[in-house]
Amino acid sequence: MRNLHPDLARVIITEDEIRARIKELARQIENDYASADRIILVGILKGAFIFMADLARELNIPHIVDFMAVSSYGKTTVSSGAVRVVLDLREPIENEHVILVEDIVDTGLTLNYLVHTLKGRRPASIRTCVLAIKDRLRVDVQVDYLGFEIPDVWVVGYGLDYADTHRTLPFVAELKPEIYQTTASGNTSPD
Ligand code: IMP
Repeated sequence: MRNLHPDLARVIITEDEIRARIKELARQIENDYASADRIILVGILKGAFIFMADLARELNIPHIVDFMAVSSYGKTTVSSGAVRVVLDLREPIENEHVILVEDIVDTGLTLNYLVHTLKGRRPASIRTCVLAIKDRLRVDVQVDYLGFEIPDVWVVGYGLDYADTHRTLPFVAELKPEIYQTTASGNTSPD
């Protein structure tokens, strides 16, 4: 295996584990929506773009993709608690079966906000598919399809970033705490 970048402590989810789990999630989704005309996969940018691309290509039922972006974190690893839509869906979702595809659930505030917002648009159904959830106390949150439960550490790779770095690593790795503890700044930007 190649050497880890010095910012990284360890690999938490390998490429092979991600690939295998996505196949399982896709089979579950195909099964659950076997009688639906189509589903709309809504990817939350930027973090979910790689997971979404792999999941969508693995799905063997009719689906279309759309995207949203929200802002709640900036360079820091601490949630501001406020969620704001900075890019909305292109199409209405009324009477459609929607699956929100998210990279990671930490406090759960982002996913909760999105589920609540999209429910208001009267979809036929709404479920969530999340690559990883942190093992910590959080608000009650609806996760229907879950990739992995991970420790409560800051992770990067496979779409996940720290201040927009390390996003395109093919695996998920823990960022060394000293990296984010020394450079946290507090600005917000879509992630
Ligand atoms: P929540 O609202 O606290 O659940 O945070 C969810 C959002 O924060 C995710 O969509 C990510 O964009 C970001 N986030 C939370 N934890 C991490 C992490 O460990 N690495 C990268 N991004 C994270």
